[in-house]
Amino acid sequence: MQAQTIIVMLKENEIFDLIRRERERQVKGIELIASENFVSEQVLQAMGSVLTNKYAEGYPGKRYYGGCEVVDLVEDVARERLKKLYNAEWVNVQPHSGAQANMAVFMACLQAGDKFLGLNLSHGGHLSHGSPVNFSGLMFHALEYNVREDTGRVDYDQLEQVARAERPKLIIAGASAYSREWDYARIRRVADEIGAIFMVDMAHPAGLIAAGLLENPLKHAHIVTSTTHKTLRGPRGGVILLGKDFPNPWGKTTPKGEVKMMSALLDSAVFPGTQGGPLEHVIAAKAVAFGEALTAGFKDYQHQVQRNAAVMAQAFMDKGYKIISGGTDNHSMLVDLRTKYPDLTGKVAEKALVAADITTNKNMVPFDSRSAFQTSGLRFGTPAITTRGLKEDKMPWIVELIDEVLQNPESETNINKVRAEVNREMLQHELFAW
Ligand SMILES: Cc1ncc(COP(=O)(O)O)c(C=O)c1O
Repeated sequence: MQAQTIIVMLKENEIFDLIRRERERQVKGIELIASENFVSEQVLQAMGSVLTNKYAEGYPGKRYYGGCEVVDLVEDVARERLKKLYNAEWVNVQPHSGAQANMAVFMACLQAGDKFLGLNLSHGGHLSHGSPVNFSGLMFHALEYNVREDTGRVDYDQLEQVARAERPKLIIAGASAYSREWDYARIRRVADEIGAIFMVDMAHPAGLIAAGLLENPLKHAHIVTSTTHKTLRGPRGGVILLGKDFPNPWGKTTPKGEVKMMSALLDSAVFPGTQGGPLEHVIAAKAVAFGEALTAGFKDYQHQVQRNAAVMAQAFMDKGYKIISGGTDNHSMLVDLRTKYPDLTGKVAEKALVAADITTNKNMVPFDSRSAFQTSGLRFGTPAITTRGLKEDKMPWIVELIDEVLQNPESETNINKVRAEVNREMLQHELFAW
């Protein structure tokens, strides 16, 4: 009897039902999480493609597996488009996430225990810039700088003082909750003075930078990292970039005694240093997103993101809310609830807003009197609602709805009324409007 292979086709319902539910949640609600966005249909398609089946450890032309000729081309397209987008000399598109990209930089540039300097987490910095529960704070000696209490802007004087006193090997600019442009040139000057590497993590404003609306950090930094899924509107993932100006060859010697080029050090820090096989389906989706970001329409979209954020911040201030730093230069803003509702925590506010289908996240404000679990702030961002097609005229309306919820966060009737209004409006907007 001929051997037969029986493939049991399992009909999956449970997970697809959940995906349908999540899609409905996304469609019905107002998405204000500053780090989220809605990708295009073609980005989704590339991610859900057969490229997920392929192992491709290594880099184009130098793989540890056969059959990589097609994914080599995919990765090359992603690299070329990313270089063009930021005017970069060299890029790596393999990091699985922003934190992985940052880890690779640490691995390439520092030894365990070395000092580095990043923005205080409770002043807007990111976990991977020195939090004590993250690899960066656990394996390296993290130093921090703050924002100023009076202006809400980075305290560059303090940054310079710490840099000169402690002489860290790496200085990081970039944040998760900071709405102002950075003075990269000033940080670079102090980095040069003490012989430190200057890295910018542009994860949040990457899309605005690609559109030329904020300064390109590649002009000043030795190394730039980013996520691809926030303002840049690609799949979840990370990238590393080098501009024209970076120490090359790098002064660090490998265990074999070779002095390596920075690009080679970073490549080996990603693979095999911190990752195994690259996610070629995600790299394909990154390439699609970079292609979209190179179009004129993407510039218009980013303009709208920035305009929406400015109008939303003003609408909050007009209603008596305090915005840290008094406004925004990018896509995001941090609201200090204490001025308007001294007894309302970010935790309670987030829960009430989510119940009204307005999604946001609680966030510590600089010099917060509450813990990271309670917080006195909320962070808002406009990339996702702009993708849904909302323009400036809708921003005061959103702020009005938020205020209605926050005035009475315990009232179910109030929340239900707001939710009905949110759903009525948002069901008229495509998920893939832009
Ligand atoms: C500035 C910054 N860097 C890195 C990351 C980490 O990205 P991921 O969540 O992809 O690891 C984030 C995420 O929010 C971020 O805001």
